[in-house]
Amino acid sequence: MKKNIQIAIDGPAGAGKSTIAKIVAETLGFTYIDTGAMYRAVTYKALKQNIHLDDETKLAEMLTVSTIDLKPSQQGQLVFLDGENVSAEIRSNEVTSSVSQVAAHARVRELLVAQQQKLAANGGVVMDGRDIATHVLKDAELKIFMSATVEERARRRFIDNEKRGIESSIEKLQEEIALRDKMDSEREASPLIQAEDALFLDTTDLSIDEAAQAILKLAKEKMA
Ligand code: DC
Repeated sequence: MKKNIQIAIDGPAGAGKSTIAKIVAETLGFTYIDTGAMYRAVTYKALKQNIHLDDETKLAEMLTVSTIDLKPSQQGQLVFLDGENVSAEIRSNEVTSSVSQVAAHARVRELLVAQQQKLAANGGVVMDGRDIATHVLKDAELKIFMSATVEERARRRFIDNEKRGIESSIEKLQEEIALRDKMDSEREASPLIQAEDALFLDTTDLSIDEAAQAILKLAKEKMA
């Protein structure tokens, strides 16, 4: 019985990664690590400090003197930046529309990937992002590439935003998601692609529970 496996979940925005990864982690008693939240925290700080989002050197310098902590809580994973809880702020429209620009820088990625690898070193983790299976946890025992149609992903973000009290329109969300997919997939540094050894999971017509159960089944096989 191999208990402390690493589970890598990659895919585009709105595929259901974080919701499903959280359920999988809770069920297995694993730690959930949302790497997108780390890129969002860097973006939030850069915007606050008026650092140009194309300035890779300044962004990397800022990051080396920043601390980003992910802490589990009853309300889900909390994100602390330099000791301050920024969990709500990092989900703002401003951060969402700027984060792909920040995540495109190789030096920013190097620094965050090193932190992510440390967090996952002892296994027993479910980590979600864009490059987890291809770069961060290349040896993960279970690799999932999760996706859904752009229309369905925009619909989910819309409902999510409604719950958070953020105003949005489905048409605009579709455009934003399509643009973010393009930026994340076409960037030079660790683009979003399915790893050769990852399993594809289309969540368009699956409920959250069905998708979580599918991954749990695979995880239990790997742990047996
Ligand atoms: O999953 P999310 O929407 O919170 O991710 C925010 C952004 O961060 C997304 O546009 C792509 C980027 N990202 C990344 O490049 N690599 C990761 N491992 C996670 C997120």
